[in-house]
Amino acid sequence: MKTGEEKTLFDSLGDMKRTHHCSALRAKDVGEEVVLMGWVQRRRDHGGVIFVDLRDREGITQVVFNPEVNEEVHQKAHAIRNEFVLAVRGVVVLRPEGMINPTLKTGEIDVMVSELRILNQSQTTPFVLEDNAQVSENIRLRYRYLDMRRPVLQKNLMLRHRAAQVVRSYLNELGFLDIETPFLTKSTPEGARDYLVPSRINPGQFYALPQSPQIFKQLLMLAGFERYYQIVRCFRDEDLRADRQPEFTQVDMEMSFVTEDDVMEVTEGMMAALFKEVLGIELKRPFKRLTYEEATGRFGLDKPDLRFGLELKDISDIIANTEFKAFANVIRAGGRVKAINAKGCIDFSRKEIDDLTNFVAIYKAKGLAWIKVRPDAWQSPIAKFFSDSEKESLRQRLDMVPGDLVFFIADQLKVVNEALGHLRSYLGHKLGLLERDQYDFIWVTEFPLMEYDEDEKRYVALHHPFTAPLEQDMKWLTEDPLAVRSRAYDLVLNGAEVGGGSIRNHQRVVQERVFEALGIDRETYEKKFGFLLEALDFGAPPHGGIALGFDRLVMLMAQQASIRDVIAFPKTQKAACLLTGAPCEASAAQLEELSLKVRTLKG
Ligand code: AMO
Ligand code: AMP
Repeated sequence: MKTGEEKTLFDSLGDMKRTHHCSALRAKDVGEEVVLMGWVQRRRDHGGVIFVDLRDREGITQVVFNPEVNEEVHQKAHAIRNEFVLAVRGVVVLRPEGMINPTLKTGEIDVMVSELRILNQSQTTPFVLEDNAQVSENIRLRYRYLDMRRPVLQKNLMLRHRAAQVVRSYLNELGFLDIETPFLTKSTPEGARDYLVPSRINPGQFYALPQSPQIFKQLLMLAGFERYYQIVRCFRDEDLRADRQPEFTQVDMEMSFVTEDDVMEVTEGMMAALFKEVLGIELKRPFKRLTYEEATGRFGLDKPDLRFGLELKDISDIIANTEFKAFANVIRAGGRVKAINAKGCIDFSRKEIDDLTNFVAIYKAKGLAWIKVRPDAWQSPIAKFFSDSEKESLRQRLDMVPGDLVFFIADQLKVVNEALGHLRSYLGHKLGLLERDQYDFIWVTEFPLMEYDEDEKRYVALHHPFTAPLEQDMKWLTEDPLAVRSRAYDLVLNGAEVGGGSIRNHQRVVQERVFEALGIDRETYEKKFGFLLEALDFGAPPHGGIALGFDRLVMLMAQQASIRDVIAFPKTQKAACLLTGAPCEASAAQLEELSLKVRTLKG
C-alpha cells in the first residue's frame, strides 16, 4: 500500500451527537429522528436491504440500510463488518407485522438510516462475542477487552458497580468514614505470603503489599475515628482457586466501643441492603448463628452450606466395641466414627463408591466404609462385623430405610469432619439439592483462637494474631492453647466464606500473651509489631470489625462460578495477566537501580 494516498476508511465523529442508547427506543418514539452509536453485533444482507444489530453497553437496536431510502448510505453499509464502530442518524419506524422481536427491549422498532459514519473498523475477533461462545478462558483473558464486550461480563461489572454504591451509601449513612491506608507497607499477617516491593532509596530493603489493612484500621480506631470503612485492594501470594485471586477486594470495616453483636448487626444490614437494592431479594434476618463446634460437628466444615441436610452423625458410642478392627482401633486411639446417610443413593455403582473413596482420601481419610440398605438385608463390606443390637442402634440413629446408602469414616475428629464435610458438599451438588435462588447466610462463631500447623510444626492463628480470645477461655492460653476459643466470626453464604472478622486485643498485655501462646518470642513480635504494641499503650479503645470478600460476594450475587468473571482484569491460576504479560523481567538498568541481582534457579 502506498502511504499517504489511500483514502481513510474512517469517518470522524464530527458534529454528530448521540441522542439515545441502544436500548432506549420504543414504539412511542416512531417518527423521531435519532442518532445512535455503538458496535456492530451482527450484519445481515437480506436481498438488498442490510440489517445491523447495533450494540452499546445498554443493549441492541436494529438499524436498517435500505437502498430505496438512501442509495448512497446503503452502498457504504456494504463495508460494515462485525465489531465496526458506527454512528448512525435515522428515523424510528415500526417493524412490520410479524417481525417484532419480543426478546429484545427495542424489538418493536427499527431505525431507518439516512446517515452513516464508520468511526472505526475491526479485525475479525478471535472468538465470537456472545455469552455462550465456546472459547478457552486463556483466549478470553488474552483479549479481555473483547471478552468484556459480552453481555454477561457487562452485566457482572455493572452489578459490581451497583453493589459498591449500595455498600458506600449504607455505610456513609451510618457514619463510617472512608479512609485510605498505604499499599507500600510492612507485612500484615493474614496467613499468606507477601508480595514484596524493593526500595530503590533504601537498597536491600523491601515494602510488603498489604494482605489486608488490618493493622492500619486498628490504628485508625486508636486515632479516635470510631467507624472506618474502605473498599480496598488486598494482596496475597497464595495458591489460587476459582474463588481466590492474588489481588482481590475487601469491604473492610472497623468500629470502636463494640461487641460481636454490633459488628454483626451492621453487616447484616449491609447484606440486606445489597440484596434488596441490587437483586430485589428480601433476606431473612437475623442470620442464623452456629458455633464452630456445631458447624463442624453437624456439617463437617466451618463454612457449611445450609441449603440441604445430609448432616453428619457421630456413631462412635454405638460401635465402641465393634468387631470391625479399623473402627475399634480408631476409637481406642481417641478418634471418632461418623456417618452420612445419602438418602436414596442405593444405585451408586462400585466405581462411583471407589471414586468417592479416592475423593475423601484427598482430605486424608484412610477409607470410606458403606452400607446399602436393601429391603431384605444390608449390603456392605463391613455390616458382617456388627451385632444385631449395633445394627438396630445404627438404623435408628441414621434413620436408615431401604434405598439409602450410608457412608462411614473413622479417624481423628478433624479428618473425619473435613472428609465427610467435603463428601457432603459433593453429594449436595451431585444430587441437585442446592436451590439456586436461595441465599442462606449464617454466622460461624467461637472459632478456635489457633490451630497446630502440622507442616510448619507450630501454632498458627486461625484468623490473625490480633483476634481477642474469649474472656472465659483466657485461663487456658498457656497450658492448653488449642482449647481457647476466640471472638472471631465468619459470614458464610451458601457454603462460601464471604467475610471474617473479630473483636481485637486492645490491651497490650493480652496481645503479648497471645503472641507468646502462638510461640512468637518477644524479640520477634517487638520487631514486627512493636509499633502496634506501643500504640496500644496510649489509650486504645475496645474495637472490632470485619472484612467482606467483595469479589466473592458479587460472584455469588451474579451467580457466577469464578471470581474472575466479576473482576475486570483478573489473573490466571499462575498469577499472570495474559493481556499485559505481567509479571515480566525487569531491565538490567532497573535491577541495578534497585541494587538487585537475579539468579535464575535451574529446575
Ligand atoms: P480474611 O483473611 O478472612 O480477613 O479476609 C476477608 C475475606 O476476604 C475474602 N478473601 C479473598 N477473596 C479473594 N481472593 C483471595 N485470595 C481472598 N482471601 C480472602 C474472603 C474472606 O472472608 N483483616 C481480616 C478481616 C478482619 O479481621 O476484620 C481479613 O482480611 O471472602
Ligand atoms: P478393609 O478391612 O481395609 O478391607 O476395609 C473394609 C472397608 O472399610 C472398606 O470399604 C474400607 O474403605 C473401609 N475402611 C477402612 N478403614 C476405614 C476408615 N478409617 N474409615 C472408614 N472406612 C474405612
